[in-house]
Formats: sequence, C-alpha cells, structure tokens
Amino acid sequence: MKTYNIGVLGGDGIGPEVAAEGLKALRTVMKDGGFDCNFIEYPYSGTYYLKTKELVPDRVIDEWRSLDAVFLGAIGHPDVETGLVERSVILGLRFGLDLYINLRPIKLYAEALCPLKGKGPDDIDFYVVRENTEGEYSQIGGILKKGTPDEVSTSTSVFTRKGVERAIRYGFELARARAAERKRPGRLTMVDKANAIRPHDIWTRTFAEVGQEYPDIEQDHAYVDACTMWMIKKPEWYDVIVTTNLFGDIITDLGSMLQGGMGIAASGNLHPGKTSMFEPIHGSAPKYAGKNVACPLGAVMAVSMMMDYLGEKAAAKRIEDSVAYLLSSGKIPSTDARSGISTTQMGDMVVQQIQRSTR
Ligand code: IPM
Ligand code: MG
Repeated sequence: MKTYNIGVLGGDGIGPEVAAEGLKALRTVMKDGGFDCNFIEYPYSGTYYLKTKELVPDRVIDEWRSLDAVFLGAIGHPDVETGLVERSVILGLRFGLDLYINLRPIKLYAEALCPLKGKGPDDIDFYVVRENTEGEYSQIGGILKKGTPDEVSTSTSVFTRKGVERAIRYGFELARARAAERKRPGRLTMVDKANAIRPHDIWTRTFAEVGQEYPDIEQDHAYVDACTMWMIKKPEWYDVIVTTNLFGDIITDLGSMLQGGMGIAASGNLHPGKTSMFEPIHGSAPKYAGKNVACPLGAVMAVSMMMDYLGEKAAAKRIEDSVAYLLSSGKIPSTDARSGISTTQMGDMVVQQIQRSTR
C-alpha cells in the first residue's frame, strides 16, 4: 500500500483547530482509499517562536523537500513582530521549495453563499494562478534612516522571464485541461498593471509569446483594477486567471467572498512534480482561536487539493463532493464563524458525509 509522508504544521490561532478537521477528513478517505499517510508534525508558528525564539531552520526546509506534501493550518500571532513568522514559515516553504504556483480555486457550491444577486454555482467557477515566488514578495528592499525625517523605504518588484513564463504556461495548461473536461472553449485572462507599471511589460510579451503555443485557448487581458470590477460584475467571464504574486494575493481574498467567504477558500502552493504545500487561504484569526467556531472547510478543501495533487483523485473527489453536498443541501448554511455549527461538529459532518458516500 502506498504511504504518503505528510508534514503537518497546525500553526497559530485557529490553524491547529481547522487543520485537525482537515486531517479527520483525510483519515476517513484513507480507510478505503487504498493508501496510508504518515503525519510528521512541525511546531513552527508564532506561538512556538514566543516560547523558543526559534524560526524554521534550514535543515527543516531540506527535510520538507523529502516529504510527499506539507499541510498547513494558519500562521500569524499578534504578539510577534509583523510578518516575522509568516516570512519564515509560509514564505520559507514557498521560496525554499520553489513553490512557484499558488493555485486558488474560486468555486461556489451553493447560491445562498454568494453575496452577489442572481449569481449561482454556474457563474462562479474559476481558478486564479498566482505567481508565488517573485514580484513584491522578493524581499528586496529596506528602510534607510528609519524613524528620521529623511527616512527612505524601498521595495523592489522582481519579475524574471523564467518565473513569469512558468506561471503563464501553467495557466494555459490548466485552461486547456479544463476545456477538455468541461467540453467548452478555454480562456486564460492575464492580469497585470502594465499601463502604470511599465516593467509589467514582461508579462505582456511573455503572455503573447507563450500564447502562440495555445491557439485553442482564448487569450484575454485585464488590468488588475478592472479585474476586481469584473469579478463582481460578471464573474462568469472568468475561466483561469494568471497574475503576479501581490495581485493574486489581493484578488483571491475578493474571490473567496464570491464562493462564500474565507472559511472555504483553499490553495495549493505547487512546484509541479515536486513536494508541494496546501493551506486554507485564511489567516490565524486570533479572535476566534480556541473557541471552536472557525469554519474548517478551507482546510478540508486544501486536503482535497493535496490528495488530487498526489494522484489520489477518487479520495480528493469524495472530500470535495461531500463538502459540496453539505453546502448545496443547506446542511451547512454558511462558511463563517456564525454558522451555528462548531469547528469539530462541521468536521464530523464532513466525515459522516464521506462515509455515507461510500455506501
Ligand atoms: C496568503 C497570505 C500570505 C500572503 C501572508 C500571510 C504572507 O495572505 O497566503 O494569501 O500574502 O501570501
Ligand atoms: Mg492573502
């Protein structure tokens, strides 16, 4: 039997609570899925840093590379310097494992969850392919003469041909795969801000060049400001979006609201063919920590993405279908902390639904 070695980082705040529910769903599909998992837990988080002053050591990043996948709850602690643990753990994984794609599905499972009037599951079903190792996240920059009237702060956006091309190529391939699966033409929308930020021209040119290899895929473009407007006005337009690291960060929070909220949005940080990391897109939500109220569906869906990535398609689909059923039937009425269903109860509902789906 195939055994997967999966690194688990519960992290901070609601992270460990939602991660536990994701793993509960995974253990359930494992039973008759014909595979096994070996979970290796890692303590790295803001909470752990406050106790030990330890961030992620390089040898641990090396160790992660030897695993099959990493599953993360959430990172961020209000008592720790802004961004310190996020950079160590989340960006440590993204940069350390060269996880150059951040794949974020925006999929609505029940009309009632969508804040837009008259939009249903047929209208909101697209992917954002976020470049995940460059752009404004390059960490190149700093502050000079901090705290003085002469203070200067710089931050350099880095876009390499290699980085831009592999993101765009992934977007085209995804659009092609979806077109085949859904039996309808595929469309890739490239989102940048090349009118104001002229170096974004590397995106424009790379998109046009790589696009020549994909004549079957409609090539579409939007500036990021217009993209946010269209996501609300006509979300059904979108099939696959490819964009920069920062723009992808921003538009996927917006996108999460179209699918019901941060409580259900999941992501895969991928280096296709290599160890990848899966996490809900929400943060540690300190105000809900320890209260057993956070919605675990984002973590559950991240587990589904992880199993799909590992090739366990049937297991991934059983998880997704169970979540979809619970939402579309109204058994889970909302994906926020006010659903009236506790974190553990919701996890149990997912487990029961998975078990029912086998019969
Ligand atoms: C996300 C988060 C992270 C990001 C933070 C926590 C560094 O917002 O995964 O979207 O900006 O990428
Ligand atoms: Mg974000």
